[in-house]
Amino acid sequence: MIIDWYPGHMKRARAQIIEVLPTIDLVIEVLDARLPASSGNPLLEKLRGNKPCIKVLNKNDLADPTVTKAWVSFFEKQQGVKAIPLEAKDRRDVGLLPKLCRKLVPNKGNKGQKPLRVMIVGIPNVGKSTLINTLAGKKMARVGDKPAITTCPQQIDLRNGILLSDTPGLLWPVMDDQNGACRLAASGAIGDNAFDTTEVSLATIDYLTGRYPALVQQRYKLPKLAETPLAIAEEIGRRRGCLVSGGDVDLHRATELFLRELRAGKLGRISLERPGETAAEAINTSNHEPKI
Ligand code: G4P
Repeated sequence: MIIDWYPGHMKRARAQIIEVLPTIDLVIEVLDARLPASSGNPLLEKLRGNKPCIKVLNKNDLADPTVTKAWVSFFEKQQGVKAIPLEAKDRRDVGLLPKLCRKLVPNKGNKGQKPLRVMIVGIPNVGKSTLINTLAGKKMARVGDKPAITTCPQQIDLRNGILLSDTPGLLWPVMDDQNGACRLAASGAIGDNAFDTTEVSLATIDYLTGRYPALVQQRYKLPKLAETPLAIAEEIGRRRGCLVSGGDVDLHRATELFLRELRAGKLGRISLERPGETAAEAINTSNHEPKI
């Protein structure tokens, strides 16, 4: 299986970030808490130089809290980096960010100081827009209020000493590693037409039966887990009525259903990668050529 992406987009996005970065004091990189490594882009580390960075592990509500804790420690070992798990729609969670920004750039953003300029970056679908809306939303929507957007059309004044770049810096997922690409596909970060649903699903079932067997059994009421991911997917299909005429399992429908439910958090809080995982322990697509 080859999951590929479009280098043209990547080039344009990189140029946009390079243009804005010199005016920025701090970068917020939004990652998907379920796959914080695969949903990042190493290009950002090169571009940001020694500017401080907050790694937001978003969609915390969907990720395994123990694994997320391990990711926070992992990231905070990096120079100039703070990591914070949150749910971008949750105002209380997001409310912690301005304080953290000021802590990382203590000479800006406080009373009597110059504003602190922040740019939010990340790959598509990690929740950048949701986060910007929660940070800025209510204030901007207030009727009869002074518009929160500054005269500079590129920035949103959060009115707490922080200026937010109003267009998120779009990074692109790195597709060199097909197993990382598989995790991105499983999470919903890349369009379903860019990969083989069945193959991604089978590789993910294989990983989850190793890491979260009880969650898979509970969700699909499986008294025990069958030997192979394919047999498990077929069992899921039978239990959910994903059948073709003659009573055989419609594997495509069954695996689609599985991915949909996984992404919606129906199986529980699940992380798709953990720090220090070896290649043998990680999601692996190579064993799962779909038999259809
Ligand atoms: P982007 O700007 O980085 O591309 O991402 P965006 O904010 O558009 O969010 C992508 C999807 O992720 C949206 O779902 C959004 O609701 C969801 N999302 C964002 N933050 C969180 C979070 O903390 N937890 C969970 N569970 N979901 C989150 P969607 O289905 O594409 O759109 P919508 O129907 O929810 O609006």
